[in-house]
Amino acid sequence: MEHQKTKVLLIEDDLSTAEIVKAMVGEETHLFDLVWADSLESGLQRVSEGDIELVLLDFGLPDSEGLDTFLRMHDQAPNVAIIPLTGTGDESLALKAVQLGAQDYLFKTSVNKQVLLRAMRYAVERKRIEEELRHAHDELEQRVKERTAELSQANQLLTVQIAERQRAEEELRRLSHRLVQVQEIERRNIARELHDEIGQLLTGLKLVIEMAARSPREQLAESFHRAQALVNDLMGRVRDLSLDLRPAMLDDLGLLHALLWQFERYTKQTAVRVEFSHRGIEGQRLPAEIETAAYRIIQEALTNVARYAAVNDVRVSVSADAEHLAVQIVDHGVGFHPATVLAARASSGLAGMRERAQLLGGTLSLESTPGQGAIISALLPLAE
Ligand SMILES: Nc1ncnc2c1ncn2[C@@H]1O[C@H](COP(=O)(O)OP(=O)(O)OP(=O)(O)O)[C@@H](O)[C@H]1O
Ligand SMILES: [Mg+2]
Repeated sequence: MEHQKTKVLLIEDDLSTAEIVKAMVGEETHLFDLVWADSLESGLQRVSEGDIELVLLDFGLPDSEGLDTFLRMHDQAPNVAIIPLTGTGDESLALKAVQLGAQDYLFKTSVNKQVLLRAMRYAVERKRIEEELRHAHDELEQRVKERTAELSQANQLLTVQIAERQRAEEELRRLSHRLVQVQEIERRNIARELHDEIGQLLTGLKLVIEMAARSPREQLAESFHRAQALVNDLMGRVRDLSLDLRPAMLDDLGLLHALLWQFERYTKQTAVRVEFSHRGIEGQRLPAEIETAAYRIIQEALTNVARYAAVNDVRVSVSADAEHLAVQIVDHGVGFHPATVLAARASSGLAGMRERAQLLGGTLSLESTPGQGAIISALLPLAE
C-alpha cells in the first residue's frame, strides 16, 4: 500500500557508496522511497520538509565531521530515526551515537542488502515505538498534572468552605447568646413597667379604698369615682403592656392587619404619619417567626423615627414573593452615621433588628448620612 512506504533520506557525499545504497534500496520500491543529499546542509534542508522518517547518515561529509554530524541532524529532527553509516569501522563513535539517540549503526564496508534493509525496517519500527511511548508518557504526565491541579483546587475549596462554616457556626453561637441577653433585657423592662406603672396605680387604688373605708358615707361617691378612674387607667396600662409584649392580632390575623393597627396606634401617639405600601402579604400567612421579626423591625424603626428623625412622615413598604419578605422603612429626617452608632454599642435597637434578621438567615442594611434621612432594609428568607 502506497501510504505505508517509508520515506528515507540518504546523506552521503561518496558517490559510489550512494550508488550502492540506492541500488540495494531501489529494488524495494514497495517499502522504501529513497531520496539523496550529498551534504549535511542540503540534508537538513530536505528533512525540514517534514516527510522523512529515516535518515541514513554518513559521518564524514564535506560540511560536517564525526559525532557532530549526528548531533546536528538529531537536534533538527528529534522525531526522525537515524542510522549512522560509518566508514572506517570506528565503532566507538557509532556506539556513542546510539547512546545519544541513533536507532542503529552500519559499517559501510560490510553492509549488504539484507542487513541494510533489516536495519532500516527495525530502525523505523523502533523509532515509532519510542515515539508512541514518549507520547503516552507525556499524556500520562499531563493527566497526572491536571488531576493534581484539580485535587489541589478541590482541597482549597474545601478549606475555604470549612472556614466559612466555622465562621457561620461562631456567628450563630454569638447570636444565640445575644438572643438570651435580649430576652433578659425585655423581661427586665416588663418587670420595671409592672413595678413602676402598674404597682404605683395599684398602690393608689389601695389607698383610695382604705380611705373610703374610713370616710363618712357622704364622701363615698367621690372615692368610688377616684377608684374607678384608677381602675380604668390600670386596664389601659395592662392592655398596652400586653400589646407591646405581643399583639394578639399578629397571631390571629397576620402581619398586614397587625401592621395597620400598629401604624394607627403609632400615629395617634406620635403624630408621625405612615405612608404604607405592600405587596404579596394580603390574605397571606407567613411563618410566625418571619411575621414577628418583620413586625418588630418595623416597630423599632418607627420608634426611632419618632424619637430622633424629626419628621412628620415615614414610608414603610413590605413585599413578599416566593423566596423573600422584603421590608423597608424610609425617612427624610436628620439621619445618623450607621457605623458610629453600631460601634458605640450603647444602644440595642438597631443591633437588635439586625440580629433578628440574621437569626432567620436574612440580612438587614442601614443606609443613612447625617442630614439625609435613613433607609432601613431587611430581607428575610421565606423558602427553606
Ligand atoms: N431614623 C433615625 N433618624 C436619626 N437618627 C437615628 C434614627 N434611627 C436611629 N438613629 C440614631 O441611632 C442611634 C441608635 O439607635 P438604636 O435604636 O440602636 O438605639 P436607641 O434608640 O438609642 O436605644 P434603644 O433602641 O435601645 O431604646 C440613636 O440613638 C439615634 O441617634
Ligand atoms: Mg431605638
